Amino acid sequence: MLKLGVNIDHVATLREARYRGRETGEPDPVAAALVCEAAGAHGITAHLREDRRHIQDRDVWQLRQVIRTRLNLEMANSPEILAIALNLKPNIVCLVPERRQEVTTEGGLDVASQWTALRETRQKLNDAGIDVSLFITPDSHQIQAAAQVGSQFIELHTGRFAETFSDARLREQALNRLSSGARLAHTLGLQVNAGHGLNYTNLPVLRQVPHLVELNIGHAIISRAVTSGLAAAVKDLLALLAPYTP
Ligand code: PXP
Repeated sequence: MLKLGVNIDHVATLREARYRGRETGEPDPVAAALVCEAAGAHGITAHLREDRRHIQDRDVWQLRQVIRTRLNLEMANSPEILAIALNLKPNIVCLVPERRQEVTTEGGLDVASQWTALRETRQKLNDAGIDVSLFITPDSHQIQAAAQVGSQFIELHTGRFAETFSDARLREQALNRLSSGARLAHTLGLQVNAGHGLNYTNLPVLRQVPHLVELNIGHAIISRAVTSGLAAAVKDLLALLAPYTP
């Protein structure tokens, strides 16, 4: 069965837009995580960025306490966040590249050029009982480097597939790259996750990629929740206006 990890960063982005610097505020990503779990999600993904632009430290500690599925912590390979991860003990850490200017994680990790540092971090996390995944583009040299780092998983970056989806030729190319990358990773003993830019339209096509274990999806799910929940939100508010007598 192909599993779903729901990325709840976007819920925190909305909260921070109004309540940055405060200890509470809505919407609450932890409450959202519980809704996702109750709806059948197999895991919760949260990215604790060095700039704390969305998920805050208190969120990951609360998530660790309350979620009953699996916590996937996305993080840069930085000493500060690594120290938090080693204490927090998420089920899995996905190492991602991080640039302050980016809107979301834009590229994959260049594993080949940071091999030694990534192997060291992978070892520390594994020693703490935490599985490790590396977020990479589906290039054979990155996949081979990931196997040499000794990570248990890779997460294939599906951004190119998502961006080229409306162009049949480019989409096929991106899909073929993902499929051969997944095959290579599988032969090397890596478990294969995938994510970035997946949505309700492109997912049925992505299912052609072999050996997938779990997909991490955020934006499309939270966007749909906003639109599909809007009618109920307006009706609830109207019900509060109804008893008013001028
Ligand atoms: N996987 C990784 C490693 C990511 O960085 C992101 C984006 O935060 C996702 C999956 C989810 O991407 P999206 O929000 O486009 O579904």
